[in-house]
Amino acid sequence: MAKIIGAIATSHTPTIGFAKDRRLENDPIWKPIFDAYEPIRAWLANKRADVLLTIYNDHVTSFFFDHYSPFALGVDDLYRPADEGGGARKVSPLPGAPELARSIATSLFAEEFDISFFRGKPVDHGCFSPLSMLADPDGTWPWKVLPFQVGVLQFPIPTARRCYRLGGALGRAIRAYPSDLRVVIVATGGLSHQVHGERCGFNNPEWDHQFLDLIENDPVALTNLTHAEYAERGGLEGAEVIMWLIMRGAMTDRIRRLHRTYYLPSMTAIATAIYENDGEYPPIAPFRDVQLEGVERLAGTYPYTLERSAKAYRLNRFLHDLIVPEHREVFRRNADALMIAHELTAEEADLVRRLDWRELIHYGVTFFVLEKLAAVVGVSNLHVYAAMRGQSLEELQATRNAKIEYGVGALYLGSQQSKM
Ligand code: FE2
Repeated sequence: MAKIIGAIATSHTPTIGFAKDRRLENDPIWKPIFDAYEPIRAWLANKRADVLLTIYNDHVTSFFFDHYSPFALGVDDLYRPADEGGGARKVSPLPGAPELARSIATSLFAEEFDISFFRGKPVDHGCFSPLSMLADPDGTWPWKVLPFQVGVLQFPIPTARRCYRLGGALGRAIRAYPSDLRVVIVATGGLSHQVHGERCGFNNPEWDHQFLDLIENDPVALTNLTHAEYAERGGLEGAEVIMWLIMRGAMTDRIRRLHRTYYLPSMTAIATAIYENDGEYPPIAPFRDVQLEGVERLAGTYPYTLERSAKAYRLNRFLHDLIVPEHREVFRRNADALMIAHELTAEEADLVRRLDWRELIHYGVTFFVLEKLAAVVGVSNLHVYAAMRGQSLEELQATRNAKIEYGVGALYLGSQQSKM
């Protein structure tokens, strides 16, 4: 079974990444930061960590307010560094751990912690800046990374208590994973800082040290604070430290601190810490996902799971883009060229070219992009349903109460197609 071998807590700032890229380890301003990470590097290597589950918040880079979620787990194979306005850092993409991610997701949902998932999104300094301090500059990462994004920038945001409880479920989800992975929980963010408004520049070292004591010895006390109380003590942006409570919830009640540093060079107090469990976890029952148990007996039924989503993501994306007028115009003019440009495989392009509705479903395409394709090529949903059932349109219609045809792009009235 997977094991939580310890936890790292660290601030995240863009400057940490820049200092690393410019090799400022001997600069007196930056040296304390490099020195702070050195014991963590050594500890990670010594512990032979396989996966770093990294809790971070995006800074309105890859997660915008058009769809903002409180908790988003990365389910991708690879995470590229994000361009935050000045060009992306030239560091290798982080290797993901998609199988572990899917297992954690299923366990969390079973505990009624419903989270969202992301792929195809670059990851910003919230995740990258501390991690790059922990790896060699030659571009290889010694561990896989599971990014866990917390939406803390548009209120309402999760309460501190919710974060702590989620951490408990996350810990159980990791420990239920049936493979001997050695997992480290990495909490990022904080400490005290505020970067907006007239109060910008606010720091509170006294509170920071108190927070570092409490996260270690009395995390429950920290779960009782409101966001306003966190903001009062550590600045509004400093309230992102609630993410540390997710890490703390995944650990045993008692923990042992092996390392702790604190440094306030400019606007953000930079802290680092290493913790190991110093207690026992309550035993957990072997996890079994019952929600889809038996669904395989329903012939001709294909739940759209994270596995199917991963396999057919590129093709689903291509077909989803048919909601964009320019994309569908190009598709109508020269579908082959467009499919090559979007790097569809020969098999995928063939399925689309032949409009093999049934095989597209078998491949992993969701019906709800197939109906967009149907609208573009001018056939009704009924036509697609019939093809999936292996019937003619007339045979399908004979099984319905009304003989009508429709799709997401049109109502079909006799031979007339009425665009909606
Ligand atoms: Fe941040």
